[in-house]
Amino acid sequence: MEYLSQIKEATQYILSQTDFKPDYGVILGTGLGALVNDVQIVHEINYEDILHFPLSTVESHSGKLIFGHLGEKRVVVMKGRFHYYEGYNMKEVTFPVRVMKMLGIKKLIISNASGALNPAYQKSELMVINDHINMQTENPLTGKNLDEMGVRFPDMSEPYEQSMIDTAMQIAEKENIPLHQGVYVGVNGPNLETRAEYHMLRVIGADAVGMSTVPENIVARQMDIPVFAVSVLTDLCYPGHIQKISVEEVIAAAMKAEPYLTKLIKQVIAADKI
Ligand code: HPA
Repeated sequence: MEYLSQIKEATQYILSQTDFKPDYGVILGTGLGALVNDVQIVHEINYEDILHFPLSTVESHSGKLIFGHLGEKRVVVMKGRFHYYEGYNMKEVTFPVRVMKMLGIKKLIISNASGALNPAYQKSELMVINDHINMQTENPLTGKNLDEMGVRFPDMSEPYEQSMIDTAMQIAEKENIPLHQGVYVGVNGPNLETRAEYHMLRVIGADAVGMSTVPENIVARQMDIPVFAVSVLTDLCYPGHIQKISVEEVIAAAMKAEPYLTKLIKQVIAADKI
């Protein structure tokens, strides 16, 4: 079946289960699921029940869409996301973003875990993404353009919405949340980088490196959805500080930062006007 038809059928299925209309889509990164505890849940749908949704690997097994209210705002939260390194292609990775657009989201909020390339950054601090570099080898827009969803050559002059970045910086200052602002580079993974690769990524202009977010951003921007994204810095990747790390340490560092991240995202959404 054609990709566009799959998107429409998945949307139809969801609409048959709930008439809740979200304004914000939220994609939560590795170890960063706690925001859902603050959502007044109206409805939940397991990914495996949604027609044409990518089939879960073990890691994202418990994945679900959560519909509800975050403060006064109407959100749909993706608990569990799809990564390219899990074996999904980029059309699969970004399928939920297409569906959320069809459900009516006006903005997309993303969090992720990433490695810090900027030597001014410390572990478990946050970085609001103000631009990105795409080093992933497959692009979600490759192939016949879905004209119904957006243009062939999307503009990327404001990949992350400046007004939301400004709001986040103000909130962070008021709330004493350590918040950097910088460039995220997206790589395939799943291995972490060599010292030479971290050095190269720094030299080309990145402040943080991770394995997600860029494809979702590209697809959202093609559909004219403003994006706000925050990285949790889980490991230090600059000379003299590179250490062996495990996924457990990445998750532990992410969890330490999570209360700040949750507070920041909640307040940015609360202050936002759509
Ligand atoms: N590199 C790539 N992705 C990551 C890293 C890293 O060092 N840390 C967390 N995600």
